[in-house]
Amino acid sequence: MPKDFLWGTATASYQVEGAAFEDGRGTSTWDTFCRTPGKVSHGHNGDIASDQYHRYAEDIALMKELGVKSYRFSIAWPRIFPDGGTHQNPKGFDYYNRLIDGLLGAGIDPAVTVYHWDLPQPLEDRGGWPNRDTAYRYLDYAKSCFQALGDRVNNWITLNEPFCSSILGYLIGIHAPGIRDRKKAYEAIHHLNLAHGLGLAAFHEGGYAGKIGTTLNLSTPRAATLDQRDTEAADRAADLGTRMFLDPLFGKGYPARHLSAYPEVKMPIVDGDMELISAPIDFLGINYYSEQVVAWDEQHPEHFRDVPHYQAETHMDWPITPWGLYRQLMFVHKNYRVPQLYVTENGCAVDDRLDQTGTRCHDRPRIDYLADHFRACAEAIKAGVPLAGYYLWSFIDNFEWSFGYTRRFGIVYCDYADQRRIPKDSFYFYREVIAGNEGP
Ligand code: GCO
Repeated sequence: MPKDFLWGTATASYQVEGAAFEDGRGTSTWDTFCRTPGKVSHGHNGDIASDQYHRYAEDIALMKELGVKSYRFSIAWPRIFPDGGTHQNPKGFDYYNRLIDGLLGAGIDPAVTVYHWDLPQPLEDRGGWPNRDTAYRYLDYAKSCFQALGDRVNNWITLNEPFCSSILGYLIGIHAPGIRDRKKAYEAIHHLNLAHGLGLAAFHEGGYAGKIGTTLNLSTPRAATLDQRDTEAADRAADLGTRMFLDPLFGKGYPARHLSAYPEVKMPIVDGDMELISAPIDFLGINYYSEQVVAWDEQHPEHFRDVPHYQAETHMDWPITPWGLYRQLMFVHKNYRVPQLYVTENGCAVDDRLDQTGTRCHDRPRIDYLADHFRACAEAIKAGVPLAGYYLWSFIDNFEWSFGYTRRFGIVYCDYADQRRIPKDSFYFYREVIAGNEGP
């Protein structure tokens, strides 16, 4: 990797912070979702999570030992605006000030995701993302983040994976708020894109010194066979996961081919929206875990279906497809004029166990996964992709959404019984990579 390549690690507020009822934090849609029977494995919730709210200093010390140059985390909206309105909780930013000052003191650059899925519940009660007003509430919230932290934060990410907030939340219903309604899901897509655009404009108007971008989880599937129809299916399968987000961001509007499959859906565009959404970003973040494989399907409205893969799987049952990361980076680089790219998340779930001494965790499959994905990044850079950094998901085991605590993504093991932190073998491996003593 180039000398100045930015090695980092990532988490998100609801997944690690805990302290869900402390210092005036309001309720988020995830608090509600976790308490809805049947939605999250074992009825787990983020009340305590990895307790980073109280243990951030210990975590920063571990990050320093790891040698990462940057830590990506998100701000919990309901800590700042507990009722989702304009009433700001004075204690809201205290925690993030402590966290940021601690990171800077350790020589670690904060990368802040403004919104990583914890919407204040009162905003959901007023319609959530399908309601245009939520984008304006996001604007107030984002502005207050820039104002409070913009003097020390150089890297801003407006949204994390709007695909999940819209499609998993409002169409498939496996994420908060658990709704299944295509019309609402597509309204949510537009209002999330709009929120990004409004946040971006406010950032530019504020004249802050840092860089700003957004983070997407794209879908660039592989065709099941070389048959031309499967290739066509793979191209179409990228419409919802990729083009519905990237195209408007880069001034191409929403993909007509995709929308024509669902005539009942109308994107609620108001004059001026698309200009806001397509204003230039400094970088694009990509979260990559795995690659789908698809075949042509005459019956499906979008003419594709997922087919079985042949690769080994992670504990999420996701196939291990490092070359898909290379392909995806190349796809983005070739089709969109992205000035700079970051992998803002990549990592894998392993069924981790502590060894008999309780002091080590031998997570060899994670090391293999990471090494292969690092190689894919190195190859992409060689091929000309402006990839500037990589954030490993995740620094520590945490609340894995609808899987609760049953899936571990950390390079630090979290013993949820007593919140002990135990660096896994992958932690030591990553430390060697960052130090330059190990590939790629
Ligand atoms: C994601 C989320 C993470 C997940 C990770 C593993 O962006 O999907 O940012 O919160 O935990 O992707 O599923």
